[in-house]
Amino acid sequence: MTEIRRYADAQSLAQASAEWVIQVANESISEFGRFRIALSGGSTPKAMHKILASEPLKGQVDWSKVKIYWGDERSAPPDDERSNYRMAMETLLNHIPIPSENIHRIEGEFEPEEAATRYGRMLKAIGEPLDLILLGMGGDGHTASLFPHTEALNEDKHRCVANYVQKMDTWRITMTANPMINQARLIVFLVSGEGKAEVLDKVLNGPYQPEVYPSQLIKPVNGKVLWLVDEPAAKHL
Ligand code: 6PG
Repeated sequence: MTEIRRYADAQSLAQASAEWVIQVANESISEFGRFRIALSGGSTPKAMHKILASEPLKGQVDWSKVKIYWGDERSAPPDDERSNYRMAMETLLNHIPIPSENIHRIEGEFEPEEAATRYGRMLKAIGEPLDLILLGMGGDGHTASLFPHTEALNEDKHRCVANYVQKMDTWRITMTANPMINQARLIVFLVSGEGKAEVLDKVLNGPYQPEVYPSQLIKPVNGKVLWLVDEPAAKHL
């Protein structure tokens, strides 16, 4: 099931997204005693992270019951400026009382295949779907590190794979659409800015061509996908 929520601008999108994360976190904690969330990389989540890391929202969840994962990572060490883990530490995790053992980063310092295997084993060991997977969407329609015309789009066995991205001549480590992301109880895309408007319309309203627009692969098996977008990104919808 797909739902789209529109917000006036990037800041109100960030605020609404942060409030939504807290709401889902508290629902998960009261139902299951824990909240497992996968963060996204890129720049869009930063504003939301900063709101989550500040009062009043910061004090509205028991962070000791929150487990942090990532949907993807660059093939880089954790202190590298490209690291999604580093971005999340700087904008959120260093500012909240979350135990370090609750933070499960993708080990980008390993060779990509090794990093992906290690992470996939850890995800498999959880034995249950994640409660929330946050995703961004690139201007080319990619999500996580599922880029157009790349191998990872066709994966249907492993939860996490190494994915070579020709156009950037770089390796990424990414959760797969299947069997990983689409098993989540809730998937939330955060999309902001006029630069995403054309591709957002194609992804949501255009023909199904996931090789070209990998975000179209995201179709939860039992869960729900929620698009939180600002008006500049939504202008063609
Ligand atoms: C990454 C992200 C990637 C990101 C999109 C959107 O590792 O870069 O996981 O999928 O979400 O590229 O990025 P922006 O939010 O910067 O537009």
